[in-house]
Amino acid sequence: MGYVLHSSSIEAEAINRLHVYFYEAAGFILVTVIAATIFIAIKFKRIDGQEYTPVTLSSRVEYFLVGIPLALVMMFFFLMLNTMHQVQPSADGKIPDVIITGHQFWWEAQYPGQHITAANEIHLPVGRKLLLKLLSADVIHDWWIPEFGSKMDMISGRDNYLWVTIKAPGVYHGACSEFCGTQHAGMNIIVVAQQQNDFNSWLQQHRQPSNPITDSLVQAGAVLFRNKTCGNCHAVKGATADVNTGPDLTHLASRQTLLTGLLQNNRENLSRWIHDPQAIKPGANMPGFLLDKPSIEALTAYLSSLK
Ligand code: CUA
Repeated sequence: MGYVLHSSSIEAEAINRLHVYFYEAAGFILVTVIAATIFIAIKFKRIDGQEYTPVTLSSRVEYFLVGIPLALVMMFFFLMLNTMHQVQPSADGKIPDVIITGHQFWWEAQYPGQHITAANEIHLPVGRKLLLKLLSADVIHDWWIPEFGSKMDMISGRDNYLWVTIKAPGVYHGACSEFCGTQHAGMNIIVVAQQQNDFNSWLQQHRQPSNPITDSLVQAGAVLFRNKTCGNCHAVKGATADVNTGPDLTHLASRQTLLTGLLQNNRENLSRWIHDPQAIKPGANMPGFLLDKPSIEALTAYLSSLK
């Protein structure tokens, strides 16, 4: 089975089941039509010298020919309504479990009632029917994790919703599926699905501010972070204002990857990124600050301390 047909959510399973029914019905029709064509070609073969006599069908065969397609169409109509109801019930009046906002070119995740804002690596619990509220901060993006089933557009000024019940813990990958600018192709989605207990610990950790500063290099980086106006776009809980022009960095060091999965999260990649963002992700809104080597080192140390 291909990637899309591998379902990791209850919703994707329902969609794929319908998909398989369609293929089975279409396969049945294909085989029937081919068999009938061969049968007719042989049975009603024109014989030289014989007069051609048109074939008439009995009315019973005609009922059959109209009845079967009609029954199939009706069956699929109801199966589809049933699947739609199962996959995408109304979200009216429901509180979303997570609010995901598409930005050029990254993802913001807010957890209502938890006072948590995360970015790019989106943590979700398994085994529960979760309601995702999908928004856009700028242009149209599209949320799609093939293994979870449905896609959903993220449109500025509009609230879209998607339900998902993840079956097993793991890391799931997706991508923005609506062209949204230069870095559209770099806008990967990473969902970290966890057992409820592990998810609760993650929430617990992310409710806290970052680790206290103990090191002098880290301290120098924190000062630079303020002086170089990094905090105008990036929030660090307790240290800057709540801004969301760029990804929240409060727990940056606890993420596995940087830049929506473009790079592994380590010191070397962090300093490369700070040194020349446009060389790594052209078109991203992060400007190069033309910093000297010691400053980059201090900022990298600070960012690496944000656990
Ligand atoms: Cu965001 Cu394409």
